[in-house]
Amino acid sequence: MLLEGRKAIVTGGNTGIGKATSERLGAEGASVCINYYSAKEASDAEALAEQIRSDGAPRAIAVQGDVGSEDDVKRMVTRAHDQLGGVDLLVNNAGIEKQAPLLEMELDLWSAVIQTNLTGAFLCIREAGKIMAAAGGGTIVNMSSVHEFIPWPGFAHYCASKGAIKLLMETAARELAPKRIRLVNVAPGAIVTPINQFVLDDPEQKHAVESEIPLGRMGQPDEIAAAVAWAASAQADYVTGTTIVVDGGMSLYPKFV
Ligand code: BGC
Repeated sequence: MLLEGRKAIVTGGNTGIGKATSERLGAEGASVCINYYSAKEASDAEALAEQIRSDGAPRAIAVQGDVGSEDDVKRMVTRAHDQLGGVDLLVNNAGIEKQAPLLEMELDLWSAVIQTNLTGAFLCIREAGKIMAAAGGGTIVNMSSVHEFIPWPGFAHYCASKGAIKLLMETAARELAPKRIRLVNVAPGAIVTPINQFVLDDPEQKHAVESEIPLGRMGQPDEIAAAVAWAASAQADYVTGTTIVVDGGMSLYPKFV
């Protein structure tokens, strides 16, 4: 097992790539704090924690909280620390996206995306990072995107948040290396998750997306979770300040001739 005895928080850990990651970390021997956003997701998140425990993880808890809220993040990190017995792995996975043309984009929508995707990652890095620094080290994996570097019309807010998380990660990697905290981004391409339901439901859009992927298919959440588990493990002890792209070749721009 790659992560025996580790204590992890996965934000947005109850759905999509986050869910696959929570399951994978548990299966690799970590205790897991599954963060979820809204009260209406509580029973599903609790059921996931139960499943992860019965699959063999030492501990698994579900904790509600909005990563964009400083108070919620402090409360969630404190609970994870108290109930798991520490925090030495943070997966900043929580993220939202909603298409909007730039010239009509409402400030509220812009702010919501930046608050969750970027400020949320910052708050979690800061709070979990304090615990890791005091304990002598840890690992932080940010769920980024190929839109860390590929511009995407209709998603200026999302791309801005993902571009920013690249330099946040790189700067934090330099600043926190002396405290033995590693930071890595994992950048998925198009993955079969609820965030992409609008594409999956429309055969034409699905085909268009697949034609942008040299491997010819969208990825599965557990293919991302596998990269997260490796990046967080001792096998990756010399890896920090970089992005691991897991995209079936999407970022090779196959349509560019
Ligand atoms: C987005 C997906 C999109 C993928 C590739 C991801 O960051 O969340 O909606 O399919 O990038 O464009």
